[in-house]
Amino acid sequence: MSTILVTGGAGYIGSHVCKYLAQQGYTVVVYDNLSTGHREMVRWGAFEHGDVRDDARLRSVLRKHKPDGVIHFASSISVGESVMDPGAYYENNVLGSLRIMQVLAQEGVRPLVASGSAAVYGLPETVPVRETCPTSPINPYGRTKLIMEWMLEDFARAHGLPWMVLRYFNAAGADPEGETGESHDPETHLIPNVLKAVRFPEACQVSLFGDDYPTPDGTCIRDYIHVMDLASAHVLACEHLLQGRPSQSINLGSGQGFSVREIVQAAENVTGHKVPFVIKARRAGDPARLVADPAKARQVLNWQTRFSDLENILATAWAWEQKKAR
Ligand code: UFG
Repeated sequence: MSTILVTGGAGYIGSHVCKYLAQQGYTVVVYDNLSTGHREMVRWGAFEHGDVRDDARLRSVLRKHKPDGVIHFASSISVGESVMDPGAYYENNVLGSLRIMQVLAQEGVRPLVASGSAAVYGLPETVPVRETCPTSPINPYGRTKLIMEWMLEDFARAHGLPWMVLRYFNAAGADPEGETGESHDPETHLIPNVLKAVRFPEACQVSLFGDDYPTPDGTCIRDYIHVMDLASAHVLACEHLLQGRPSQSINLGSGQGFSVREIVQAAENVTGHKVPFVIKARRAGDPARLVADPAKARQVLNWQTRFSDLENILATAWAWEQKKAR
């Protein structure tokens, strides 16, 4: 059975993918510098401590484990932070991705599946968003993800590197068996912040950023996709490339949009508690609506979502929040 090297495998999406890979019979090797990942989330394979920018270390791990493919998650993910400190984002996301491509080109190319983002679309003119929509990122984070895609195209042309970029919309939810979940510090994402406000109603309200958008209830609409559905797409993407099929970028979303207020309401239904919130000003750079057209993922990867109904997303995220608290 194939061995897959997972950079950033100690993180939120990476750890779910590792679990799913192991369940599917793959041998997993996690490569992570633990800057934001968690050692205790590395439970489904070997662990190699290392930074993606460290090409010597990467090379020695590749030689040691001889993976058949690489899934690359290790990157910085906060839009706001990328605006404040763009250098850190270009270094970690662009240089880190470049190092992986260079080492693969030198050591023998093999399939590379990489984390992309809907942030490459910026403020899309049409929704749902198809992969053919123009890419026009509006912040350094989105730009680093688009540059990575361009580099992959160039490495494919020059060195025959097979690649796939999966452009996530809003990753959410947690492992239904409660073995891993979302643990960012600081947390910027809506659903964990809503659930934190439920857990600590005395100490924190969740801020809702803007209720004057041109949407039915005035709050932003997003496409929330369960992290377990993301996990299955990564394994399908590896299989696709291992079968020698074409390199490309593919959206991963549910195709359904929910407003911030709808998320709050759904969280109240699932938890049985009121969500204390306060309406704040718009957050810079938030598009009013961002919803995927997932047709390409269904067609190319034969991907089907199984976990992404909103209630299940919130129920699994809530179970994880409560488990973290224990
Ligand atoms: N929001 C709040 N309060 C919060 C957090 C978020 O109201 O405490 C709102 C945001 O303004 C936005 C929505 O909830 O309207 C979702 O925000 P998230 O921060 O959860 O997610 P984003 O849509 O901003 O970000 C996601 C990915 C990014 C990616 C981006 C692309 O997490 O990696 O989509 O637009 F860059």
